[in-house]
Amino acid sequence: MVSPHRLKLQLASDGTRPLFMEIAYSIIGEIERGRLKSGDRLPGTRALSASLKVHRNTVDAAYQELTMQGWLVARPARGTFVSDDLPEPAGQDLPAPGPRSPVSPTESGTARPTLRVSDGAPDARLMPATQLARAFRTALTTPVFIGGGDYGDPRGAIRLRAALSDYLVAERGLTAPANDILITRGSQMGLYLAAAALLEPGQVIAVEEPGYPLAWAAFRAAGARVLGVPVDEHGIDVDRLSALADREPDLRAVYVTPHHQYPTTVTLGAGRRLRLLELARRKRLVLIEDDYDHEYRFEGRPVLPLTARAGTEGVVYLGSLSKLLAPAVRVGYAIAAPAILTRMADRREAIDRQGDVPLEQALAGLIEDGELRRHTRKARRIYNERRDLFAAAIRDELGDHVTFDVPAGGLALWLRLRCGLDAESWAARAARIGLEVSPGVKFALDAARAPQAFRLGYASLNEADLRSVARMLKNTIDS
Ligand SMILES: Cc1ncc(COP(=O)(O)O)c(C=O)c1O
Repeated sequence: MVSPHRLKLQLASDGTRPLFMEIAYSIIGEIERGRLKSGDRLPGTRALSASLKVHRNTVDAAYQELTMQGWLVARPARGTFVSDDLPEPAGQDLPAPGPRSPVSPTESGTARPTLRVSDGAPDARLMPATQLARAFRTALTTPVFIGGGDYGDPRGAIRLRAALSDYLVAERGLTAPANDILITRGSQMGLYLAAAALLEPGQVIAVEEPGYPLAWAAFRAAGARVLGVPVDEHGIDVDRLSALADREPDLRAVYVTPHHQYPTTVTLGAGRRLRLLELARRKRLVLIEDDYDHEYRFEGRPVLPLTARAGTEGVVYLGSLSKLLAPAVRVGYAIAAPAILTRMADRREAIDRQGDVPLEQALAGLIEDGELRRHTRKARRIYNERRDLFAAAIRDELGDHVTFDVPAGGLALWLRLRCGLDAESWAARAARIGLEVSPGVKFALDAARAPQAFRLGYASLNEADLRSVARMLKNTIDS
Protein backbone atom coordinates (compact mmCIF):
# COMPACT_ATOMS: atom_id res chain seq x y z
CA MET A 1 0.00 0.00 0.00
CA VAL A 2 1.20 3.51 -0.80
CA SER A 3 1.70 5.37 2.46
CA PRO A 4 -0.28 8.59 2.83
CA HIS A 5 2.99 10.48 3.29
CA ARG A 6 4.40 9.25 -0.02
CA LEU A 7 1.56 10.95 -1.85
CA LYS A 8 2.46 14.52 -2.72
CA LEU A 9 -1.03 15.89 -2.90
CA GLN A 10 -1.25 19.57 -3.74
CA LEU A 11 -4.45 21.07 -2.49
CA ALA A 12 -5.20 24.59 -3.67
CA SER A 13 -7.33 26.10 -0.97
CA ASP A 14 -8.85 29.09 -2.76
CA GLY A 15 -12.30 27.58 -2.30
CA THR A 16 -13.22 27.66 -6.00
CA ARG A 17 -13.59 23.90 -6.07
CA PRO A 18 -14.82 21.59 -3.37
CA LEU A 19 -12.06 19.97 -1.37
CA PHE A 20 -12.90 16.47 -2.50
CA MET A 21 -12.32 17.53 -6.09
CA GLU A 22 -8.97 19.05 -5.16
CA ILE A 23 -7.98 15.72 -3.69
CA ALA A 24 -9.26 13.94 -6.78
CA TYR A 25 -7.27 16.22 -9.11
CA SER A 26 -4.15 15.71 -7.05
CA ILE A 27 -4.44 11.96 -7.20
CA ILE A 28 -4.89 12.16 -10.98
CA GLY A 29 -1.74 14.30 -11.08
CA GLU A 30 0.16 11.62 -9.13
CA ILE A 31 -1.02 8.96 -11.58
CA GLU A 32 -0.05 11.10 -14.55
CA ARG A 33 3.40 11.70 -13.19
CA GLY A 34 3.83 7.99 -12.72
CA ARG A 35 4.21 8.31 -8.97
CA LEU A 36 1.11 6.19 -8.60
CA LYS A 37 1.07 3.19 -10.94
CA SER A 38 -1.56 0.77 -12.14
CA GLY A 39 -2.30 -1.74 -9.40
CA ASP A 40 -0.96 0.45 -6.56
CA ARG A 41 -3.13 0.31 -3.48
CA LEU A 42 -4.15 3.69 -2.14
CA PRO A 43 -4.04 4.55 1.53
CA GLY A 44 -7.24 3.85 3.42
CA THR A 45 -9.61 6.80 3.75
CA ARG A 46 -8.96 7.03 7.49
CA ALA A 47 -5.18 7.26 7.10
CA LEU A 48 -5.29 9.70 4.18
CA SER A 49 -7.85 11.95 5.86
CA ALA A 50 -5.72 12.05 9.01
CA SER A 51 -2.63 12.90 6.99
CA LEU A 52 -4.45 15.64 5.01
CA LYS A 53 -6.35 16.84 8.08
CA VAL A 54 -9.69 16.65 6.30
CA HIS A 55 -12.89 14.82 7.08
CA ARG A 56 -12.89 11.18 6.10
CA ASN A 57 -16.05 11.66 4.01
CA THR A 58 -14.11 14.12 1.86
CA VAL A 59 -11.48 11.53 0.99
CA ASP A 60 -14.23 9.00 0.48
CA ALA A 61 -15.98 11.37 -1.96
CA ALA A 62 -12.70 11.87 -3.88
CA TYR A 63 -12.18 8.12 -4.16
CA GLN A 64 -15.77 7.63 -5.29
CA GLU A 65 -15.42 10.32 -7.93
CA LEU A 66 -12.23 8.75 -9.29
CA THR A 67 -13.74 5.28 -9.17
CA MET A 68 -16.70 6.49 -11.19
CA GLN A 69 -14.34 8.06 -13.71
CA GLY A 70 -12.32 4.86 -14.01
CA TRP A 71 -9.04 6.09 -12.48
CA LEU A 72 -9.44 3.92 -9.40
CA VAL A 73 -11.03 0.55 -8.73
CA ALA A 74 -12.60 -0.37 -5.39
CA ARG A 75 -12.09 -4.04 -4.48
CA PRO A 76 -14.42 -5.12 -1.67
CA ALA A 77 -12.55 -5.97 1.54
CA ARG A 78 -9.20 -5.27 -0.14
CA GLY A 79 -9.10 -1.54 -0.70
CA THR A 80 -8.90 1.01 -3.47
CA PHE A 81 -6.39 0.53 -6.28
CA VAL A 82 -5.14 2.49 -9.27
CA SER A 83 -6.93 1.03 -12.27
CA ASP A 84 -5.09 -1.52 -14.41
CA ASP A 85 -6.75 -0.07 -17.42
CA LEU A 86 -4.70 3.12 -17.80
CA PRO A 87 -2.26 4.04 -20.55
CA GLU A 88 1.43 4.41 -19.70
CA PRO A 89 1.90 7.81 -18.05
CA ALA A 90 3.40 10.33 -20.45
CA GLY A 91 5.15 12.25 -17.72
CA GLN A 92 6.87 9.28 -16.13
CA ASP A 93 10.04 11.27 -15.39
CA LEU A 94 8.43 14.48 -14.32
CA PRO A 95 9.55 15.51 -10.89
CA ALA A 96 6.88 16.07 -8.31
CA PRO A 97 5.89 19.72 -8.33
CA GLY A 98 7.29 21.91 -5.62
CA PRO A 99 4.93 22.84 -2.84
CA ARG A 100 4.30 26.33 -4.23
CA SER A 101 3.63 25.36 -7.82
CA PRO A 102 0.78 22.91 -7.99
CA VAL A 103 0.26 21.65 -11.52
CA SER A 104 -3.33 22.24 -12.36
CA PRO A 105 -5.08 19.32 -14.01
CA THR A 106 -5.76 21.50 -17.02
CA GLU A 107 -2.10 22.38 -17.47
CA SER A 108 -1.13 18.76 -17.15
CA GLY A 109 -3.60 17.90 -19.88
CA THR A 110 -6.11 16.15 -17.63
CA ALA A 111 -9.76 16.99 -17.96
CA ARG A 112 -11.14 18.39 -14.75
CA PRO A 113 -13.40 15.96 -12.98
CA THR A 114 -16.75 17.55 -13.58
CA LEU A 115 -19.52 17.25 -11.07
CA ARG A 116 -22.42 16.41 -13.35
CA VAL A 117 -25.93 16.92 -12.06
CA SER A 118 -28.23 14.62 -14.01
CA ASP A 119 -31.82 15.44 -14.93
CA GLY A 120 -33.04 12.78 -12.48
CA ALA A 121 -30.93 9.63 -12.85
CA PRO A 122 -30.94 7.00 -10.12
CA ASP A 123 -27.78 5.95 -8.28
CA ALA A 124 -26.55 2.96 -10.26
CA ARG A 125 -24.25 2.06 -7.34
CA LEU A 126 -27.37 0.98 -5.42
CA MET A 127 -28.50 -1.43 -8.11
CA PRO A 128 -28.75 -5.08 -6.96
CA ALA A 129 -26.03 -5.92 -9.47
CA THR A 130 -24.95 -9.20 -7.91
CA GLN A 131 -28.49 -10.54 -7.85
CA LEU A 132 -29.09 -9.36 -11.41
CA ALA A 133 -25.83 -10.93 -12.60
CA ARG A 134 -26.73 -14.21 -10.88
CA ALA A 135 -30.20 -14.20 -12.43
CA PHE A 136 -28.69 -13.40 -15.85
CA ARG A 137 -26.28 -16.29 -15.55
CA THR A 138 -29.10 -18.63 -14.57
CA ALA A 139 -31.11 -17.47 -17.57
CA LEU A 140 -28.20 -17.97 -19.96
CA THR A 141 -27.51 -21.48 -18.73
CA THR A 142 -31.13 -22.65 -18.62
CA PRO A 143 -32.11 -23.63 -22.17
CA VAL A 144 -35.84 -23.28 -21.57
CA PHE A 145 -35.33 -19.67 -20.47
CA ILE A 146 -33.56 -18.67 -23.65
CA GLY A 147 -35.86 -20.53 -26.00
CA GLY A 148 -33.36 -23.14 -27.14
CA GLY A 149 -31.90 -21.89 -30.40
CA ASP A 150 -35.05 -20.20 -31.62
CA TYR A 151 -36.30 -16.65 -31.80
CA GLY A 152 -38.87 -15.53 -29.28
CA ASP A 153 -41.93 -13.27 -29.21
CA PRO A 154 -41.26 -9.68 -30.39
CA ARG A 155 -43.45 -8.53 -27.49
CA GLY A 156 -40.85 -9.90 -25.08
CA ALA A 157 -40.41 -12.93 -22.84
CA ILE A 158 -43.80 -14.06 -21.58
CA ARG A 159 -42.31 -14.69 -18.14
CA LEU A 160 -41.37 -11.01 -17.78
CA ARG A 161 -44.68 -9.82 -19.19
CA ALA A 162 -46.51 -12.03 -16.68
CA ALA A 163 -44.31 -10.87 -13.78
CA LEU A 164 -44.90 -7.23 -14.77
CA SER A 165 -48.62 -7.84 -15.10
CA ASP A 166 -48.73 -9.05 -11.45
CA TYR A 167 -46.40 -6.30 -10.27
CA LEU A 168 -48.32 -3.49 -11.98
CA VAL A 169 -51.70 -4.50 -10.66
CA ALA A 170 -50.34 -4.64 -7.11
CA GLU A 171 -48.19 -1.51 -7.25
CA ARG A 172 -50.05 0.75 -9.65
CA GLY A 173 -53.61 -0.53 -9.91
CA LEU A 174 -53.11 -1.38 -13.59
CA THR A 175 -55.01 -4.41 -14.78
CA ALA A 176 -53.04 -5.36 -17.85
CA PRO A 177 -52.92 -9.00 -18.89
CA ALA A 178 -49.51 -10.17 -20.08
CA ASN A 179 -50.72 -10.09 -23.68
CA ASP A 180 -51.38 -6.34 -23.49
CA ILE A 181 -47.76 -5.69 -22.49
CA LEU A 182 -44.89 -5.11 -24.90
CA ILE A 183 -41.35 -5.14 -23.54
CA THR A 184 -39.19 -2.43 -25.10
CA ARG A 185 -35.58 -1.33 -24.80
CA GLY A 186 -36.37 1.48 -22.39
CA SER A 187 -39.38 3.74 -22.66
CA GLN A 188 -37.60 5.63 -25.43
CA MET A 189 -38.37 2.75 -27.78
CA GLY A 190 -41.93 2.76 -26.42
CA LEU A 191 -42.28 6.45 -27.31
CA TYR A 192 -40.99 5.81 -30.81
CA LEU A 193 -43.21 2.79 -31.38
CA ALA A 194 -46.29 4.52 -29.97
CA ALA A 195 -45.73 7.45 -32.31
CA ALA A 196 -45.19 5.16 -35.29
CA ALA A 197 -48.33 3.17 -34.47
CA LEU A 198 -50.58 6.17 -33.77
CA LEU A 199 -49.50 9.08 -35.90
CA GLU A 200 -49.55 9.70 -39.62
CA PRO A 201 -47.00 12.17 -40.98
CA GLY A 202 -48.35 15.71 -40.55
CA GLN A 203 -50.65 14.81 -37.67
CA VAL A 204 -50.26 16.73 -34.44
CA ILE A 205 -49.30 15.58 -30.99
CA ALA A 206 -49.69 17.96 -28.04
CA VAL A 207 -46.97 17.88 -25.41
CA GLU A 208 -46.29 19.53 -22.09
CA GLU A 209 -44.11 22.61 -22.26
CA PRO A 210 -41.60 22.68 -20.68
CA GLY A 211 -41.23 18.99 -21.34
CA TYR A 212 -39.15 16.01 -22.40
CA PRO A 213 -37.21 16.66 -25.61
CA LEU A 214 -36.43 13.00 -26.28
CA ALA A 215 -40.16 12.32 -26.50
CA TRP A 216 -40.49 15.15 -29.00
CA ALA A 217 -37.66 13.61 -31.04
CA ALA A 218 -39.50 10.28 -31.16
CA PHE A 219 -42.73 11.96 -32.28
CA ARG A 220 -40.96 13.99 -34.94
CA ALA A 221 -39.28 10.85 -36.23
CA ALA A 222 -42.80 9.60 -37.03
CA GLY A 223 -43.39 12.78 -39.05
CA ALA A 224 -45.68 14.30 -36.43
CA ARG A 225 -45.95 17.99 -35.63
CA VAL A 226 -45.23 18.65 -31.96
CA LEU A 227 -47.16 21.50 -30.31
CA GLY A 228 -46.65 22.67 -26.74
CA VAL A 229 -49.27 23.21 -24.05
CA PRO A 230 -48.20 25.19 -20.97
CA VAL A 231 -47.69 23.56 -17.60
CA ASP A 232 -48.41 25.22 -14.25
CA GLU A 233 -48.27 24.07 -10.63
CA HIS A 234 -51.06 21.53 -11.28
CA GLY A 235 -49.58 20.08 -14.46
CA ILE A 236 -50.68 20.50 -18.07
CA ASP A 237 -53.21 23.30 -18.62
CA VAL A 238 -56.25 21.38 -19.86
CA ASP A 239 -58.12 24.53 -20.91
CA ARG A 240 -55.26 25.46 -23.23
CA LEU A 241 -55.18 21.88 -24.52
CA SER A 242 -58.91 22.07 -25.17
CA ALA A 243 -58.45 25.30 -27.12
CA LEU A 244 -55.69 23.65 -29.15
CA ALA A 245 -57.96 20.68 -29.86
CA ASP A 246 -60.67 23.08 -31.11
CA ARG A 247 -58.39 24.79 -33.60
CA GLU A 248 -56.22 21.83 -34.70
CA PRO A 249 -58.26 19.26 -36.63
CA ASP A 250 -55.13 17.11 -37.01
CA LEU A 251 -54.56 16.78 -33.28
CA ARG A 252 -54.43 13.04 -32.64
CA ALA A 253 -52.58 12.43 -29.38
CA VAL A 254 -51.34 14.02 -26.15
CA TYR A 255 -48.13 13.11 -24.35
CA VAL A 256 -48.18 13.59 -20.58
CA THR A 257 -46.06 12.82 -17.49
CA PRO A 258 -48.85 13.11 -14.88
CA HIS A 259 -47.15 11.60 -11.85
CA HIS A 260 -44.09 13.85 -11.76
CA GLN A 261 -44.20 16.26 -14.65
CA TYR A 262 -40.92 16.38 -16.52
CA PRO A 263 -39.14 18.70 -15.85
CA THR A 264 -41.17 20.70 -13.28
CA THR A 265 -41.87 17.70 -10.95
CA VAL A 266 -45.51 18.70 -10.27
CA THR A 267 -48.28 16.11 -10.03
CA LEU A 268 -51.30 16.47 -12.30
CA GLY A 269 -54.17 17.59 -10.06
CA ALA A 270 -57.23 15.39 -9.59
CA GLY A 271 -59.62 17.79 -11.35
CA ARG A 272 -57.26 18.13 -14.28
CA ARG A 273 -57.00 14.35 -14.59
CA LEU A 274 -60.73 13.98 -14.95
CA ARG A 275 -60.98 16.86 -17.42
CA LEU A 276 -58.07 15.52 -19.45
CA LEU A 277 -59.68 12.09 -19.72
CA GLU A 278 -63.01 13.62 -20.62
CA LEU A 279 -61.43 15.86 -23.28
CA ALA A 280 -59.50 12.93 -24.75
CA ARG A 281 -62.67 10.87 -24.99
CA ARG A 282 -64.70 13.70 -26.53
CA LYS A 283 -62.03 14.65 -29.08
CA ARG A 284 -60.88 11.06 -29.71
CA LEU A 285 -57.32 11.84 -28.66
CA VAL A 286 -54.96 9.08 -27.60
CA LEU A 287 -53.12 9.79 -24.36
CA ILE A 288 -49.52 8.65 -24.10
CA GLU A 289 -48.86 8.40 -20.38
CA ASP A 290 -45.15 8.29 -19.49
CA ASP A 291 -44.91 7.02 -15.90
CA TYR A 292 -41.14 6.92 -15.72
CA ASP A 293 -40.46 7.07 -11.96
CA HIS A 294 -43.67 5.89 -10.36
CA GLU A 295 -42.22 4.22 -7.24
CA TYR A 296 -40.35 7.27 -6.01
CA ARG A 297 -43.09 8.94 -4.05
CA PHE A 298 -42.05 10.19 -0.64
CA GLU A 299 -45.20 11.91 0.59
CA GLY A 300 -48.09 9.46 0.83
CA ARG A 301 -48.84 6.76 -1.70
CA PRO A 302 -48.09 7.15 -5.39
CA VAL A 303 -51.00 8.62 -7.33
CA LEU A 304 -52.54 5.98 -9.57
CA PRO A 305 -51.84 6.37 -13.28
CA LEU A 306 -54.47 7.79 -15.61
CA THR A 307 -54.46 4.39 -17.27
CA ALA A 308 -55.58 2.75 -14.02
CA ARG A 309 -58.74 4.85 -14.19
CA ALA A 310 -59.30 4.94 -17.93
CA GLY A 311 -58.22 1.44 -19.00
CA THR A 312 -56.19 1.03 -22.14
CA GLU A 313 -58.90 2.24 -24.53
CA GLY A 314 -57.40 5.42 -25.95
CA VAL A 315 -54.29 5.28 -23.74
CA VAL A 316 -50.74 4.05 -24.28
CA TYR A 317 -48.98 3.58 -20.95
CA LEU A 318 -45.17 3.58 -20.83
CA GLY A 319 -42.96 2.41 -17.99
CA SER A 320 -39.25 1.85 -17.57
CA LEU A 321 -36.75 0.14 -15.32
CA SER A 322 -34.23 2.93 -15.94
CA LYS A 323 -35.07 4.74 -12.70
CA LEU A 324 -35.58 1.58 -10.67
CA LEU A 325 -32.25 0.02 -11.67
CA ALA A 326 -30.12 2.05 -14.05
CA PRO A 327 -30.55 3.57 -17.52
CA ALA A 328 -27.89 1.12 -18.75
CA VAL A 329 -30.35 -1.74 -18.23
CA ARG A 330 -32.41 -1.15 -21.34
CA VAL A 331 -35.80 -2.48 -20.42
CA GLY A 332 -39.09 -0.64 -20.50
CA TYR A 333 -42.63 -1.63 -21.34
CA ALA A 334 -45.73 -0.38 -23.07
CA ILE A 335 -49.33 -1.24 -22.28
CA ALA A 336 -51.99 -0.58 -24.88
CA ALA A 337 -55.19 -1.91 -26.37
CA PRO A 338 -54.55 -4.99 -28.54
CA ALA A 339 -54.91 -3.26 -31.92
CA ILE A 340 -52.37 -0.58 -31.04
CA LEU A 341 -50.05 -2.98 -29.25
CA THR A 342 -49.95 -5.24 -32.31
CA ARG A 343 -48.99 -2.31 -34.52
CA MET A 344 -46.25 -1.39 -32.06
CA ALA A 345 -45.00 -4.99 -31.89
CA ASP A 346 -44.92 -5.24 -35.69
CA ARG A 347 -42.79 -2.12 -35.93
CA ARG A 348 -40.53 -3.34 -33.16
CA GLU A 349 -40.01 -6.62 -34.97
CA ALA A 350 -39.05 -4.73 -38.12
CA ILE A 351 -36.11 -3.06 -36.40
CA ASP A 352 -35.24 -5.28 -33.46
CA ARG A 353 -36.82 -8.71 -34.01
CA GLN A 354 -36.96 -9.32 -30.27
CA GLY A 355 -35.50 -8.02 -27.02
CA ASP A 356 -32.63 -9.22 -24.88
CA VAL A 357 -34.09 -12.54 -23.74
CA PRO A 358 -31.59 -13.45 -20.98
CA LEU A 359 -31.93 -9.97 -19.50
CA GLU A 360 -35.70 -10.16 -19.65
CA GLN A 361 -35.64 -13.56 -17.95
CA ALA A 362 -33.27 -12.27 -15.29
CA LEU A 363 -35.49 -9.28 -14.56
CA ALA A 364 -38.53 -11.54 -14.35
CA GLY A 365 -36.62 -13.50 -11.69
CA LEU A 366 -35.88 -10.31 -9.75
CA ILE A 367 -39.55 -9.35 -9.77
CA GLU A 368 -40.78 -12.85 -8.88
CA ASP A 369 -38.48 -13.27 -5.88
CA GLY A 370 -39.21 -9.79 -4.50
CA GLU A 371 -35.71 -8.43 -5.11
CA LEU A 372 -36.94 -5.52 -7.22
CA ARG A 373 -39.39 -4.47 -4.50
CA ARG A 374 -36.71 -4.77 -1.80
CA HIS A 375 -34.36 -2.67 -3.85
CA THR A 376 -37.07 -0.10 -4.52
CA ARG A 377 -37.83 0.28 -0.82
CA LYS A 378 -34.15 0.78 -0.03
CA ALA A 379 -33.58 3.21 -2.91
CA ARG A 380 -36.70 5.18 -1.99
CA ARG A 381 -35.46 5.64 1.57
CA ILE A 382 -32.04 6.82 0.41
CA TYR A 383 -33.45 9.16 -2.24
CA ASN A 384 -35.88 10.60 0.29
CA GLU A 385 -32.93 11.48 2.53
CA ARG A 386 -31.00 12.93 -0.39
CA ARG A 387 -34.00 15.00 -1.47
CA ASP A 388 -34.31 16.48 2.03
CA LEU A 389 -30.60 17.09 2.39
CA PHE A 390 -30.37 18.71 -1.03
CA ALA A 391 -33.45 20.86 -0.47
CA ALA A 392 -31.94 22.08 2.82
CA ALA A 393 -28.54 22.77 1.20
CA ILE A 394 -30.16 24.70 -1.65
CA ARG A 395 -32.26 26.69 0.81
CA ASP A 396 -29.18 27.51 2.91
CA GLU A 397 -26.95 28.51 0.03
CA LEU A 398 -29.40 29.90 -2.52
CA GLY A 399 -32.52 30.78 -0.57
CA ASP A 400 -32.34 34.42 -1.68
CA HIS A 401 -31.94 33.58 -5.33
CA VAL A 402 -34.26 30.69 -6.15
CA THR A 403 -37.65 29.34 -5.18
CA PHE A 404 -38.77 25.73 -5.32
CA ASP A 405 -41.35 23.36 -3.93
CA VAL A 406 -39.97 20.22 -2.35
CA PRO A 407 -41.38 17.64 -4.78
CA ALA A 408 -43.62 14.92 -3.37
CA GLY A 409 -41.75 12.44 -5.50
CA GLY A 410 -39.36 11.94 -8.38
CA LEU A 411 -35.60 12.31 -8.45
CA ALA A 412 -35.07 16.01 -9.18
CA LEU A 413 -35.72 19.52 -7.91
CA TRP A 414 -37.01 22.27 -10.17
CA LEU A 415 -35.46 25.57 -9.11
CA ARG A 416 -37.06 28.75 -10.37
CA LEU A 417 -34.63 31.65 -10.46
CA ARG A 418 -35.30 35.00 -8.93
CA CYS A 419 -36.27 37.66 -11.43
CA GLY A 420 -33.23 39.01 -13.27
CA LEU A 421 -31.14 35.84 -13.07
CA ASP A 422 -30.41 34.01 -16.29
CA ALA A 423 -30.24 30.22 -16.05
CA GLU A 424 -28.19 29.64 -19.17
CA SER A 425 -25.41 32.06 -18.29
CA TRP A 426 -25.42 30.85 -14.69
CA ALA A 427 -25.02 27.27 -15.97
CA ALA A 428 -22.13 28.42 -18.20
CA ARG A 429 -20.37 30.01 -15.22
CA ALA A 430 -20.90 26.87 -13.17
CA ALA A 431 -19.43 24.77 -15.99
CA ARG A 432 -16.23 26.81 -15.77
CA ILE A 433 -15.63 25.62 -12.23
CA GLY A 434 -16.56 22.04 -13.00
CA LEU A 435 -20.29 21.86 -12.33
CA GLU A 436 -22.69 20.74 -15.05
CA VAL A 437 -26.36 21.60 -14.57
CA SER A 438 -29.37 21.69 -16.91
CA PRO A 439 -30.93 25.12 -17.44
CA GLY A 440 -34.58 25.52 -18.45
CA VAL A 441 -33.78 26.07 -22.12
CA LYS A 442 -33.04 22.33 -22.39
CA PHE A 443 -36.71 21.59 -21.79
CA ALA A 444 -38.22 24.28 -23.99
CA LEU A 445 -39.80 23.75 -27.40
CA ASP A 446 -38.91 27.33 -28.22
CA ALA A 447 -35.82 28.93 -26.65
CA ALA A 448 -37.72 32.22 -26.47
CA ARG A 449 -40.03 30.61 -23.94
CA ALA A 450 -37.25 28.97 -21.90
CA PRO A 451 -38.06 28.98 -18.20
CA GLN A 452 -35.47 30.64 -15.95
CA ALA A 453 -35.00 27.48 -13.96
CA PHE A 454 -32.75 24.47 -13.33
CA ARG A 455 -33.72 20.83 -13.14
CA LEU A 456 -31.33 19.24 -10.65
CA GLY A 457 -31.34 15.47 -10.19
CA TYR A 458 -30.25 14.59 -6.67
CA ALA A 459 -30.60 10.82 -6.49
CA SER A 460 -27.27 9.82 -8.03
CA LEU A 461 -25.16 12.11 -5.85
CA ASN A 462 -23.89 11.42 -2.37
CA GLU A 463 -24.16 13.81 0.53
CA ALA A 464 -20.84 15.54 -0.10
CA ASP A 465 -21.62 16.05 -3.78
CA LEU A 466 -25.06 17.44 -3.04
CA ARG A 467 -23.59 20.02 -0.69
CA SER A 468 -20.93 20.84 -3.28
CA VAL A 469 -23.56 21.43 -5.95
CA ALA A 470 -25.35 23.96 -3.76
CA ARG A 471 -22.09 25.67 -2.83
CA MET A 472 -20.77 25.76 -6.39
CA LEU A 473 -24.03 27.24 -7.62
CA LYS A 474 -23.77 29.88 -4.96
CA ASN A 475 -20.16 30.62 -5.91
CA THR A 476 -21.20 31.26 -9.49
CA ILE A 477 -24.36 33.29 -9.10
CA ASP A 478 -22.74 36.36 -10.50
CA SER A 479 -19.02 36.14 -10.70
C1 LIG B 1 -39.62 11.82 -18.97
C2 LIG B 1 -38.83 10.56 -19.09
N1 LIG B 1 -39.40 9.49 -19.60
C3 LIG B 1 -38.74 8.32 -19.71
C4 LIG B 1 -37.46 8.19 -19.25
C5 LIG B 1 -36.77 6.85 -19.29
O1 LIG B 1 -36.19 6.61 -20.48
P1 LIG B 1 -35.65 5.16 -20.81
O2 LIG B 1 -36.61 4.17 -20.24
O3 LIG B 1 -35.59 5.12 -22.30
O4 LIG B 1 -34.30 5.04 -20.18
C6 LIG B 1 -36.80 9.27 -18.75
C7 LIG B 1 -35.40 9.16 -18.34
O5 LIG B 1 -34.72 10.08 -18.08
C8 LIG B 1 -37.51 10.49 -18.63
O6 LIG B 1 -36.92 11.56 -18.09
